Amino acid sequence: MENRGVDELARRSRLAEEGGGRERRERQHAQGKLSARERIDLLLDDGTFEETDKFVTHRCTDFGMAENRIPGDGFVTGYGKVEGRTVFVFAQDFTVFGGSLSESNAAKIVKLMDMAMRVGAPIVGLNDSGGARIQEGVVSLAGYADIFLRNTLASGVVPQISAILGPCAGGAVYSPAITDFTFMVDKTSYMFVTGPDVIKTVTHEEVTKEKLGGATTHNEVSGVAHFMAHNDQECVAMVRELLSFLPSNNLDDPPRRACTDPIDRADRELDTLVPAESNQPYNIKLVIERLVDDGYFFEVHEHFARNIVIGFARMNGRPVGIVANQPAFLAGVLDIDASVKAARFVRFCDAFNIPLITLEDVPGFLPGVQQEYGGIIRHGAKLLFAFAEATVPKLTVITRKAYGGAYCVMSSKHIRTDLNLAWPTAEIAVMGPEGAVNIVYGRELEQVLKQAEVDNGPLSDERKAELLAAARSEKVHEFREQFANPYVAAERGYVDAVILPHETRRRLIAALEMLDGKRDKNPPKKHGNIPL
Ligand code: HXC
Repeated sequence: MENRGVDELARRSRLAEEGGGRERRERQHAQGKLSARERIDLLLDDGTFEETDKFVTHRCTDFGMAENRIPGDGFVTGYGKVEGRTVFVFAQDFTVFGGSLSESNAAKIVKLMDMAMRVGAPIVGLNDSGGARIQEGVVSLAGYADIFLRNTLASGVVPQISAILGPCAGGAVYSPAITDFTFMVDKTSYMFVTGPDVIKTVTHEEVTKEKLGGATTHNEVSGVAHFMAHNDQECVAMVRELLSFLPSNNLDDPPRRACTDPIDRADRELDTLVPAESNQPYNIKLVIERLVDDGYFFEVHEHFARNIVIGFARMNGRPVGIVANQPAFLAGVLDIDASVKAARFVRFCDAFNIPLITLEDVPGFLPGVQQEYGGIIRHGAKLLFAFAEATVPKLTVITRKAYGGAYCVMSSKHIRTDLNLAWPTAEIAVMGPEGAVNIVYGRELEQVLKQAEVDNGPLSDERKAELLAAARSEKVHEFREQFANPYVAAERGYVDAVILPHETRRRLIAALEMLDGKRDKNPPKKHGNIPL
């Protein structure tokens, strides 16, 4: 009797683990993809996976499905450890009905997500699915809606991470879209609301799957994906890396690591990194790498809106979120994409107790008809809102330009930033000297020419241009001396200190320690109304 029970358990387990069978698994491997179980094994610490609902089957009896049941129903679910901390995971098994979502396997995910929220642990979804199970119709759609609700409720409670490792199409894309971070694998994954065939019928546009919704498209163009990996193995390793910066839930602090990089390391190269000419580019990532522990920066959204850089690093072993204008790309200007990219990151860090460090060198918001038509006002406001409402420790270093509205937006003192530092190269002004001189001294410059003609008689165009350039340059110099420096702001306490660049690491670490016990709250409300 006892043996029979053991045999039956072994039989059912084998069926579940075989999924859609060897042939389909080999097809998966031939495409360069791993199986659902191989992916989970790579994600979790060795031997820690505890599977749940292994024997769940679908309940569909239409289209000959009654005879076609596989234990687990194409989703592998459970929990285990990543670097010793609990993580919940589900993986869609493309070998079973194309990893499609049924009423039953949706219920497995819902159960997992409810548990993850109860215990306060991250959820990782490994997606590889043909979408709603066609044979089940509306009950499958209902399953998606149940998951979307959980994604929404879990948002800001536990970190949610989606890895797209195969197809993810139709409404199914909206679960990853609600989660905090989306990874895609180059050439083997794609995401779209409607595929190339439907697009051709409806809009007569011809586009390949890859061009429409491949990893490059979503990392570079749409910003839907935050990370791109070359294969499943790299993707899963990157998910583990990301998790190492995150707390398990919104009530925990992010995990600290021992730090061997001296906290008072003074990198003298920082002192000469910002070019003397304020219109010369430099790479802000070089600044970040010189400031953070061991020079290690885990960049998020690396390929999207490259005029702003976001990502995680550690300072004295403590995870921080970094937001930095990138003068090496579009002069670090804030446009629609950059605003949205940074705003979402700021809100994530704020939700999960990750201090924010802002490195500022921004010439302002991008002017232009397309930006205005696209709603730069609405989108730029997102970043302002996100920084203003954030209650985590906030630190800002102005390395060079802090012009106009962007000065206010980029975690200025006025929106509750705890410590605002400026390098001696900082220029804080309503706009750049060239633009300011044109507006403020326009009439005076005209007068210079008129006076010259009164004094010397009619002048050639060449001479006029020379005179004008000399007069402008003098005014620009005057303006720069008077306004484009950190001292006007420092005199008013808008920057707390003007520091030498090589002191920055020590100052930031000291501030983070000082802010360890920071408690700040927003007024009680149901929720704010961020301009979406
Ligand atoms: C049931 C499915 C399925 C689905 C694939 N399969 N998608 N079974 N429901 N949605 C099965 C196939 O029958 C096949 O079974 C196996 O999975 C592999 O599929 P193939 O087509 O052979 O694989 P491939 O050539 O790699 O093509 C993959 C694919 C294609 C591009 C994903 O299968 C496909 O277009 N599927 C339908 C996608 C779709 O339109 N889904 C609905 C989207 S709408 P066998 O037994 O032969 O191995 C949606 C709404 C969500 O999801 C709404 C939320 C609000």
